[in-house]
Amino acid sequence: MYSYDLKCKTDPLWIKAVMADFDSFLIDHAANERKASTLAMSMVVHYPDKDDIVREMIDLAMEEMAHFREVIKIMLKRGLQQIPDKTNQYIGLFMKKMRKDPKHYLLDRLLMFSIVEKRGAERFGLVGEALAEPKIKDFYQRLAAAEYRHYELFISLAYKYYAADVVKIRLEQLLQDEADIIKSCPFRAAVH
Ligand SMILES: [Fe+2]
Ligand SMILES: [Fe+2]
Repeated sequence: MYSYDLKCKTDPLWIKAVMADFDSFLIDHAANERKASTLAMSMVVHYPDKDDIVREMIDLAMEEMAHFREVIKIMLKRGLQQIPDKTNQYIGLFMKKMRKDPKHYLLDRLLMFSIVEKRGAERFGLVGEALAEPKIKDFYQRLAAAEYRHYELFISLAYKYYAADVVKIRLEQLLQDEADIIKSCPFRAAVH
């Protein structure tokens, strides 16, 4: 299995911000799961000639949608509603790093999604550690494990479609970009 480390750990001030306004975090988190599902389906539509991507991304879209359903259930129990989507600074800045030409776009997307999933796994793990109530703590621990699997899925797809040295060089650049971006984002009660 392919693996790599993120270039920086999440600052403890982030988990402080999340715990200070957990309701807002849940609302943002739900939107993230829904967008992850939509992104996976966009891959299914964009790469009809790549069987592995079609198969894996349909499964992923369904799994992210199941996460969305679970977060929405938690929100409804707490009397929370969804709010209109806002642009996300972290994702927006990361998207700007994507090379859009046909030769590189797939590689950059697979690597970016892998890194974003790895960051998600790290952060859901931190949320799971910080929460006290067993049921929701368990939910976030399960989510951390699921997002970790997604990180592995995307990096293995990158190595499947591109030469190892090409993947490694670009991964190194995007990991550095991600670290710079996450350090530039304010601490909010949100996934990023
Ligand atoms: Fe998810
Ligand atoms: Fe995911």
